[in-house]
Amino acid sequence: MNVSVKELFKNKNNQIVKEFTLKNEYIEVSFINVGASITRFIDLKSGINVVLGYNDYQIYTENPNYFGCVVGRNAGRIENGVFCLDNKKIELSKNFLGKHQLHSGLNGFQRKTFTEIMNEDSISMIAVSNDGEEGFPGCVRLKVTYQLIDNEFHIKYEAKSDQHTIINLTNHTYFNLNRDKEKSIVNHNLLLNADFFLELDPEMIPKRSKSVIKTPFDFRKSKLIGRDLDETNEQIKIGNGYDHPFLLNKNQSFNHVSQLSVDNLTLDVYSDQDAVIVYTGNFLDGSTSISDEKKANYRCAVCLETQGIPNSMHIKTFKDKNYYQKDESYRQHTVWKLQNNSE
Ligand code: GAL
Repeated sequence: MNVSVKELFKNKNNQIVKEFTLKNEYIEVSFINVGASITRFIDLKSGINVVLGYNDYQIYTENPNYFGCVVGRNAGRIENGVFCLDNKKIELSKNFLGKHQLHSGLNGFQRKTFTEIMNEDSISMIAVSNDGEEGFPGCVRLKVTYQLIDNEFHIKYEAKSDQHTIINLTNHTYFNLNRDKEKSIVNHNLLLNADFFLELDPEMIPKRSKSVIKTPFDFRKSKLIGRDLDETNEQIKIGNGYDHPFLLNKNQSFNHVSQLSVDNLTLDVYSDQDAVIVYTGNFLDGSTSISDEKKANYRCAVCLETQGIPNSMHIKTFKDKNYYQKDESYRQHTVWKLQNNSE
């Protein structure tokens, strides 16, 4: 495996923004130290970059669309921006509809400058979220490690808090396996290893689990993402497409999550997490410039966000999930396996 580092520019705090690239005979993957964000993920056989990245790297310091970044310390929405911890009501910052919290507010890991550790066959990125940040108790130390093993990209998260708190992390990469990144992903086939998904309330808060049977959310057999997308289904209307947590069928500690494919390219995701949020880029509107001066059009990408169950603290059956005691280890292992089946 080949490793290279490039210095890009200084951010407003005078820190150097750098891009790291891991390359072997199958894949070239690049990421930067802002949000540990994945900027490119290239299938070397076809030369196709399968992820969206900003054309202007300065935009990663704000990252309004969460391109490629680690999201946390809590990914997703928390209803009314509150939760209960040790019989106390914890009030969080509210950055969604002025009422709920989304992706840990404005200062999540997605905006932080990480410090790198160059390991023998991987790179780890380290960042800290301070006690009280965006309302969350506890100082959380995070290490995320990126490694290429043949045609698999491994993401390992390790985190610890110095106080009882909640931790739920994900990566927010937008995938598009088309050569033309402006083309919608409705032509991609998707399979999800999930019998249940979470319904959203009208303000997009995950609420209750529902069987996928006889709904547009049934991806147990691979089907085109676009097949049931414009249905008059109430849930599709609320998300303006797919923007829902799917509850993963867990047979082992590490499971097949999903398969995304178009033409000769296939991306399989494996993880030890409870859920995957499938978000079909419904907030993209063509106003963001991506690599090669292209535009991030409506639904021109799909995010497959492996994580714990979002808003768990407000859902009866999951209310004890995602809490971590002082010094308890949070861990996540997710793998993206990219295959090119062309001759
Ligand atoms: C997703 C979320 C979407 C949207 C997006 C960022 O994780 O489910 O509703 O907020 O992040 O634009």
